[in-house]
Amino acid sequence: MCGIFGYVNYLVEKTRGEISTNLIDGLRKLEYRGYDSAGIAIDGDKPDETLIVRQIGKVAALKEEYDSKDYNQDVSFVSHAGIAHTRWATHGQPKQINCHPQRSDVNNEFVVVHNGIITNFRELKTLLINKGFKFESDTDTECIAKLFKHVYDTNLKNGNSPDFNELMKQVLFEIDGSYGLLVKSIHYPNEVCATRKGSPLLVGVKTERKLKVDFVDVEFPDVESSHDISAKKEDLGLLPVAQGESSLRHSQSRAFLSEDGLPQPAEFFLSSDPAAVIQHTKKVLFLEDDDIAHIYDGELHIHRARKDDNLSATRAIQTLELELAQIMKGPYKHFMQKEIFEQPESTFNTMRGRVDFINHRVNLGGLKSWLTTIRRCRRIIMIACGTSYHSCLATRSIFEELTEIPVSVELASDFLDRKSPVFRDDTCIFVSQSGETLDSMLALQYCLERDALTVGVVNSVGSSISRSTHCGVHINAGPEIGVASTKAYTSQYIALVMIALSLSDDRVSQIQRRHEIIEGLQKIPEQIKKVLTLEESIKSLCTEELSTQKSLLLLGRGYQHATALEGALKIKEISYIHSEGVLAGELKHGVLALVDDQLPIIAFATRDSLFPKVINSIEQVTARSGRPIIIKNEGDTGISAERALAVLEVPQTVDCLQGLLNVIPLQLISYWLAVNKGIDVDFPRNLAKSVTVE
Ligand code: UD1
Ligand code: F6R
Repeated sequence: MCGIFGYVNYLVEKTRGEISTNLIDGLRKLEYRGYDSAGIAIDGDKPDETLIVRQIGKVAALKEEYDSKDYNQDVSFVSHAGIAHTRWATHGQPKQINCHPQRSDVNNEFVVVHNGIITNFRELKTLLINKGFKFESDTDTECIAKLFKHVYDTNLKNGNSPDFNELMKQVLFEIDGSYGLLVKSIHYPNEVCATRKGSPLLVGVKTERKLKVDFVDVEFPDVESSHDISAKKEDLGLLPVAQGESSLRHSQSRAFLSEDGLPQPAEFFLSSDPAAVIQHTKKVLFLEDDDIAHIYDGELHIHRARKDDNLSATRAIQTLELELAQIMKGPYKHFMQKEIFEQPESTFNTMRGRVDFINHRVNLGGLKSWLTTIRRCRRIIMIACGTSYHSCLATRSIFEELTEIPVSVELASDFLDRKSPVFRDDTCIFVSQSGETLDSMLALQYCLERDALTVGVVNSVGSSISRSTHCGVHINAGPEIGVASTKAYTSQYIALVMIALSLSDDRVSQIQRRHEIIEGLQKIPEQIKKVLTLEESIKSLCTEELSTQKSLLLLGRGYQHATALEGALKIKEISYIHSEGVLAGELKHGVLALVDDQLPIIAFATRDSLFPKVINSIEQVTARSGRPIIIKNEGDTGISAERALAVLEVPQTVDCLQGLLNVIPLQLISYWLAVNKGIDVDFPRNLAKSVTVE
């Protein structure tokens, strides 16, 4: 997932300093979606000069790199076009040569920023290499930049001088895949050409005078284009000699017409996300797939890359009434709430392309060549902090059951405090959302020094833990912004179960069990959706029964012990209410003394082999006038709700996956307890998202 941003000023004088600040600030607004590298392209001091600045890391690192270049910031540009990009790698490690903008050649004749993937880039790359192009990066994007130059040069050779948008059409004719694309070229100074297919792109418009009309006409060529992509045939050879078409600019965009016919000052902001545009202007136009937006001379023109289907012949310029925070959070009040509700999607993404539900196979690309070594290890040590530690606890038992390798679970800080012995035939699994938690990182270093095999289970691609481990699995939950970890927990849980399944796929004795779990995994996203419908009843439970509580106990055993601990952590960290997760079997060994008719006790009573024992614990609570909140399976009549304060029903799944569903009501309870207390749940006091201190 990447962010793209472009800024074009026409007859609005801006210094280079202002232009670069605009571009870099635009990228900062996109950073909430993730980042690992960024870059910008702007004009140089000489005509025909494009400067490219790129850096790996956050946008702040790009800013530093830019500042170190000592460009003259005071040079001013009456008109100018700049493009920018921030990247959240899903393909390969972030490296400077892979950052965007990518260029056509050493003179930066064409520079592009791109979201998405070009599926035929290998074929294109081979063809372009044969034509003498020298590739610098591992990206698919680079072939777009080089293709622009090739098509441009071919046109010139044939005596054509195509308009920028026509050139774009000819390039799109050659590429397959999905894209949000911005192109800048020294051959078309102060212009930007943009297009999209399956990747969002919008244009913000800022003018001093009111626009004549609040729409832009789609412009159709006088003669049918020979590069209409709808006419593409399967067997068409790549790179046919480009045929230039009418290069006359005869149209004027009605929206930008002035009374006196004189050019109007205007600014344009192109972005993959309204978050980067909204601070500049509320007037935006959302491009449709296959639209080509061409910005020049203070006007925005829309062309089509394909013959028009039944799409409208105009694109509306809308007024966005949203605030920045609203855009980023969508319909949700907080990131935490958004992330809780994202779980049907994020859990699906963790499994996507990795679990073959038909043949009951799990294929983890990052572990494939390490499985044999791991299977031979003496023991597995899972090491993590906080919520990530709980996901290890939740999956430990299924790990042991499937792999028959002893598994211990360690809190990183305690593991280091004890200087626990580690050997070269140990496998150490590091679980971390951020991949930057210092305690976990130090424990990783400790294990590396002792030659153990290290495996990461990490959300942030390119993070320290992801880079320093021998191998691993990215959980692909997408960026998590709320300080309280929610969707990372369910995705870590699934990733760990998938690892256990991979390690055991040579065990005939486990076939039945493995099938059952894989079938269970398939249903999880839909089942989570169902649990999320409990929000209204949870909200009222939190506003009424639980509104004045100072303390809460959570009771679980077996698989649900981890859920109880995780639920208790969520509650204390964002609602500041004391809460404690208790192993139900330990109740009678001390905790029972706390039970009275005041203290609410949340009990996990979903079906598994320990169900009778949990019922027993609940009875011990009710016998002392305690009023439990019971989480049970839908329609389960085997449990009396008579003396319960509340009952919440969740769908049933395989025992070892039930925690994925049971934790969701707890996430919602913690969220609503905090909201009711007026706490800003995304920024709980004293806590940071990424704990990079000891
Ligand atoms: C990879 C691609 C994914 C693509 C898929 C297609 C990356 C980051 N992922 O996913 O975009 O869709 O191939 O086959 O390029 N690793 C560690 N430590 C960690 C996590 C991962 O060393 O903590 C290593 C893995 O061993 C692997 C690489 O990073 O070499 C990528 O891991 P992962 O994203 O999980 O691999 P795939 O699922 O194969
Ligand atoms: C709790 C929470 C923390 C983190 C812990 C580890 O909601 O977010 O307990 O789980 O700080 O962080 P990562 O997973 O980034 O290593």
